[in-house]
Amino acid sequence: MTTSIVGLTDIHKSCGPVEVLKGISLDVAPGEVICLIGPSGSGKNTLLRSINHLEKTNAGEIRVDGNLVGYRELNGRLFELSDKETSKSREDVGMVLQHFNLFPHMTVLENLIEAPLRVRKENKAEATSRAQTLLARVGLEEKADSYPEQLSGGQ
Ligand SMILES: Nc1ncnc2c1ncn2[C@@H]1O[C@H](COP(=O)(O)OP(=O)(O)OP(=O)(O)O)[C@@H](O)[C@H]1O
Ligand SMILES: [Mg+2]
Repeated sequence: MTTSIVGLTDIHKSCGPVEVLKGISLDVAPGEVICLIGPSGSGKNTLLRSINHLEKTNAGEIRVDGNLVGYRELNGRLFELSDKETSKSREDVGMVLQHFNLFPHMTVLENLIEAPLRVRKENKAEATSRAQTLLARVGLEEKADSYPEQLSGGQ
């Protein structure tokens, strides 16, 4: 029985003739912070995208909080889920890409509450209050009403 929040077992992934992931296994404990470090093109993004089933792997098993991602197990065989079913499990996994892709026509606060409102159907007042708390935690509370183009790269 595993206590991993993210568990990868022998993940293989090829892009055409190039084998990008050659049997990656990894266990991340709840609350643990880990860094993936490697040369450009070594497959870091491919591995992270695989965790959300944004990339299909060729072999191996991926579990988040004990559940398979993108597949259902039936009589020892794996069957790929529909996009709609996989979207449901993606709701619980956050991902910040190299390009943040903030909506340029929305303020910082509006960017932060968009997914909670639209995906989670959260109450606007609660989502706003939580967003403000999170902004304060990283010292950006005064930027809530700024637009992305008014921020520095780090902000
Ligand atoms: N759709 C694709 N088709 C073919 N090759 C691909 C595809 N996507 C990624 N690759 C190749 O897979 C390899 C891993 O790419 P990936 O983006 O995962 O690397 P990375 O470790 O995140 O690199 P960087 O540090 O530059 O961001 C690269 O060699 C890349 O060229
Ligand atoms: Mg990358």
